[in-house]
Amino acid sequence: MTNPRNSFIWQYLDVPQEEVTAIQESYKNAIPNNTLFYQNLKIDKEYFCNLKILFPALIQCAPWSGFKTDTIHIDLRNREVHGTLALNIPLEHCEGSTTKFWKSTAPIIIEHTSNNYDYSYFDPKYCEQISEFKLNRPVLFDTDIPHNVVNPQPVWRRAISLRFAKDPWHLVGL
Ligand SMILES: [Fe+2]
Repeated sequence: MTNPRNSFIWQYLDVPQEEVTAIQESYKNAIPNNTLFYQNLKIDKEYFCNLKILFPALIQCAPWSGFKTDTIHIDLRNREVHGTLALNIPLEHCEGSTTKFWKSTAPIIIEHTSNNYDYSYFDPKYCEQISEFKLNRPVLFDTDIPHNVVNPQPVWRRAISLRFAKDPWHLVGL
């Protein structure tokens, strides 16, 4: 029998608005003055919807970025201490961006961000888009599926990305 978790890509979540507002406020108080794509922040919250947060990450996408689909990747950081699910929540200008998912036959190429997180880059020549979502509400997705963000706007797009000690599959009934 196939495991239904293997075909999961992403799903919107019903989260109480007060939880969303509270974590957005925590992040807004902690936004750093840099342009790093991925970083973990120090925030004043340990839990989100009763789930213990392992890493409160911030994802920042530059204005007018991601068009050439040269940013397709999977997340490799810290995989030994957590799984592959990310719970993302809009923070700034997320509605106008698109998160795309890809099927790839490209060989895995390991790269490092400037602040030393590992990721795997995929040559877009070998990728075919399989799904996409607008980050206009909380969403759970599998960072192990090649993905990228297109930000066709003149402003920075910032998103909350929570990683938990144990992947919260129960949120999507899997
Ligand atoms: Fe990612």
